[in-house]
Amino acid sequence: MNEKRQQITASAPGKLMLLGEHAVVYGRPCLVTAVGRWQATVAPAADDLLHVTAPDVGLLDCALPLTAPVGEMPAGARFIAAAVQEFRRQHGGHGGLRVSTSSHFSSRYGLGSSAAVTVAVLQALAAWHGVSLTPTELFDLGRRAVLAVQGVGSGFDVAAAVYGGTLYFAAGGPTIEPLAVGELPLVVGYSGVKADTATLVRGVAARRAAALQEIDRLFDQSAILVEAGRQALQAGDLATLGSLFDQAQELLVRLGVSTPRLEALIAAARGAGAWGAKLSGAGGGDCLIALVPAGRRQAVEAAIVTAGGEVVAVHPGEPGARVEDVLG
Ligand code: MEV
Repeated sequence: MNEKRQQITASAPGKLMLLGEHAVVYGRPCLVTAVGRWQATVAPAADDLLHVTAPDVGLLDCALPLTAPVGEMPAGARFIAAAVQEFRRQHGGHGGLRVSTSSHFSSRYGLGSSAAVTVAVLQALAAWHGVSLTPTELFDLGRRAVLAVQGVGSGFDVAAAVYGGTLYFAAGGPTIEPLAVGELPLVVGYSGVKADTATLVRGVAARRAAALQEIDRLFDQSAILVEAGRQALQAGDLATLGSLFDQAQELLVRLGVSTPRLEALIAAARGAGAWGAKLSGAGGGDCLIALVPAGRRQAVEAAIVTAGGEVVAVHPGEPGARVEDVLG
């Protein structure tokens, strides 16, 4: 570790799934845009412990043994600890560390805070050590760290955190293709219900085990919507993209991951003039997204609030991981 530096801050964005959730876990592609920003600051500690401060999840100088299994750590510290462990496994490093994280966005929205924090910590550690990571290397480290904690997931959220912008993503290779698109006129509504991605992904796995062909057909249809969505995005055809949102929502209802509450908010957004609306992410709660013509934004936001949702202001297409600040 470069002892001359006192602390380094890096940041990475979260994500909004545009099309392709769940199917992407089974090798089909998805479209994702980066939103929000999470900061991680890394500094040396005098002892041999990992000191985590993450106010959003209620951790204030929580001291942990650096090499403890992440599953035994407090939930709010797991992604940070996994990032440090993965980094050290690949690139070395020793001694105690202080890591603090912050964001204007609450982690309860389901906007990919776990992957964003993981990637921000990795980016800060790399800068600290003077290691220049390629985006592919940062993605691989982030993917391993997230899997060490969560056990499941396609990695699309890690890709959004590393690359930012709007991406066409497929796991495996992986395929990560930045798309040249203008700012997407999205309205995001929080349902008020915090969903647990891993539980929802396991629920879909159980349904698939019981009805393999039926569920795989839904995933194949999802892939078709994603390909059409990529074309619509690149052509700037937002009305078509909106209708693809509506079709994707139908598939997600059939997959069993939508909820009456999400559907009420989606109906409200459509009724107020959105081009289309759908849940975004694992479902079960968290957020919906609506694609809106310029003149309808206020009406759609008001309709979501009237239906009991909370509007979350985001800027789609946020830039990817970067070093923000070097002190010392
Ligand atoms: C969760 O935001 C999206 C899922 O497709 C899981 C994943 O891709 O990791 C349900």
